[in-house]
Amino acid sequence: MKSYTTLLTDLTNGILLITLNREDKLNALNKAVIGDLNDVMDEVYANAEIKGVVVTGKGNKAFAAGADIAEFKGLDEEQGTALARRGHSVFNKIEMCPKPVIAAVNGFALGGGCELAMACHIRIASENAKFGQPEVNLGLIPGYGGTQRLVQLIGKGKALELLMTADMIDAHCAQKLGLVNDVVQTVELIDHCKAMVAKIASKAPFAIAQVIQSVYAHFKDGIDGFDTEISLFGKCVTTEDFVEGTAAFLEKRKANFKGK
Ligand code: COA
Repeated sequence: MKSYTTLLTDLTNGILLITLNREDKLNALNKAVIGDLNDVMDEVYANAEIKGVVVTGKGNKAFAAGADIAEFKGLDEEQGTALARRGHSVFNKIEMCPKPVIAAVNGFALGGGCELAMACHIRIASENAKFGQPEVNLGLIPGYGGTQRLVQLIGKGKALELLMTADMIDAHCAQKLGLVNDVVQTVELIDHCKAMVAKIASKAPFAIAQVIQSVYAHFKDGIDGFDTEISLFGKCVTTEDFVEGTAAFLEKRKANFKGK
């Protein structure tokens, strides 16, 4: 693994733990963090040793308290658009990662922090997590996919409420809305997320990648998700893991997937 200025990485048993490492700024996402996230995701795509990812924030206070507001000063329209475009590109890379990416939300997930969590495939929150899209307090709207992914996850009515009131919600409210999958004790958060990645990684990797692609096809303009599912199902039956998985079931044994 490369080393990163703004991220800590730990690859153990095929699970990469990525920790945003700006605790003194509540892990705010400045340009350097966005650049490092882009590069670490390139490693995730390319490195066959990495089976899945957990993303979290350093410290016990914040996952990420948003984009770095200090970098907003003096932006013109062109720079603002470029900033949002760059964030979109990196977060799309996270979302379309063929390996599972789980957000371990360990505190404030505000603005870009909430958007980062939403770009991950699954979100698990600690008891002290707090979520919100407070951009309108700054004269802004979310710029890293928040207006779209929040609607996808919790529906239009509640999304509009959170986006327009800038209200912060706690972990249990976020779970009730479907913004997070589960809420766990803070001390259990990382192990819980790692266990979930390990469980997913024990399945056929090609099939997992096709699940991700097929589900996100639902949200892509001009693409029929049902057609996508049909063709990806067809691709799965050409894999060695399909032969192994079905044989293992019939032989009443555990499948030994090779990712081929
Ligand atoms: N960008 C840049 N710096 C940030 C930040 C952000 N989004 N969020 C927090 N920080 C910095 C603070 O400026 C402070 O730095 P300092 O110690 O050098 O002054 C440090 O992180 C600690 O934050 P602080 O505000 O003192 O902590 P708090 O416990 O009083 O409040 C929050 C916590 C999350 C409620 C508050 O930091 C906040 O509202 N942050 C901004 C949230 C936001 O609007 N995000 C959307 C951005 S688009």
